[in-house]
Amino acid sequence: MAARFPKRPPSQPRAPRPREDDQGGERRDRQRGRDDRPPQRDERRRRRDDRPPAPAAAPGAPPAAPAAPAAPTAWEPQAAWYDQLQGAGGDDFYRDLVLPATLRQLQARPGQRVLDVCCGQGVLGRTLAGHGVRVLGVDASPALIAAAQSRAGASERYVVGDARALDATLGDERADHAALVMALQDLDPIEPALAGIARRLPTGGRLVIVLSHPCYRIPKRTAWGWDEQWGIQFRRVDAYLTPQALPIKTHPGMPQDGASSTSFHRPLSTYLVALGGAGFGVVAAEELCSARRGTKGPRYMAEDRAAREIPVFLVLTAVRLG
Ligand SMILES: C[S@@+](CC[C@H](N)C(=O)[O-])C[C@H]1O[C@@H](n2cnc3c(N)ncnc32)[C@H](O)[C@@H]1O
Repeated sequence: MAARFPKRPPSQPRAPRPREDDQGGERRDRQRGRDDRPPQRDERRRRRDDRPPAPAAAPGAPPAAPAAPAAPTAWEPQAAWYDQLQGAGGDDFYRDLVLPATLRQLQARPGQRVLDVCCGQGVLGRTLAGHGVRVLGVDASPALIAAAQSRAGASERYVVGDARALDATLGDERADHAALVMALQDLDPIEPALAGIARRLPTGGRLVIVLSHPCYRIPKRTAWGWDEQWGIQFRRVDAYLTPQALPIKTHPGMPQDGASSTSFHRPLSTYLVALGGAGFGVVAAEELCSARRGTKGPRYMAEDRAAREIPVFLVLTAVRLG
């Protein structure tokens, strides 16, 4: 039985970054927050100037209203910040962990087409295109799609759409493989998204999902702890099995910035059951550990051991069953 979350008013944003905001020992995350400052004004202007000019309005026509998101997403107002964070090739998490694992698991060949669901500003699409793969990206945020288009090459196409209603956006367009990177925890419900992806893939087509590890990275429910007696840094898990819609701060390193969104926590079994229900079978998984380290203090060895032992991201590779 699929997990359900309480309904929220439509004005409330639904799409969070699965960014942990838990208490105790999250120095590296906070450091990251400090590095997550919004782009400086010159840089913002440069980015705007890099984008293709908007089509000219007919003489006398009223100015075009900004495009509305295809689904409520907290990423639309954060688009400039997120675009700056990822840039052309991704931040260190993406360059070192997320993108290599996604490429490894997709096994897409040059000329094949990958559907990038919740593509954001296109960091995966550009990487795939660099390997000769054709890309079709879909995201609810018009601002992020505009950012993706502004850097897109000839083999990339990005469109605004709701991942939970892909038929409405894509009609009968198909792909060889699909990716859903750092976004499954933004979606509620997930079943329509998985079913829509499955309809677009051939038998044997791969779907690669990357998400914050649902066992160890649960906003406000997991945290680092320190065991004085044994000199061990441990991961504390306060709750796991109950599905939760958890508010998280978008910029944990900026206390004065109130931007927040909601992360949908589900236990691992919910994802596996939903994949099976959509006609996918899981064939591979990777659990990725952070390479980030704090400064070398007296607990450095224990912190390093914990960081190498407890993963931050889970990668699930599923194939479309016949
Ligand atoms: C953390 S970002 C990840 C973006 C991209 N996959 C990446 O790895 O950079 C989550 C993305 O999910 C998108 N999103 C949230 N809800 C969505 C929905 N219902 N349909 C399509 N995209 C959605 C957001 O707009 C945002 O771009």
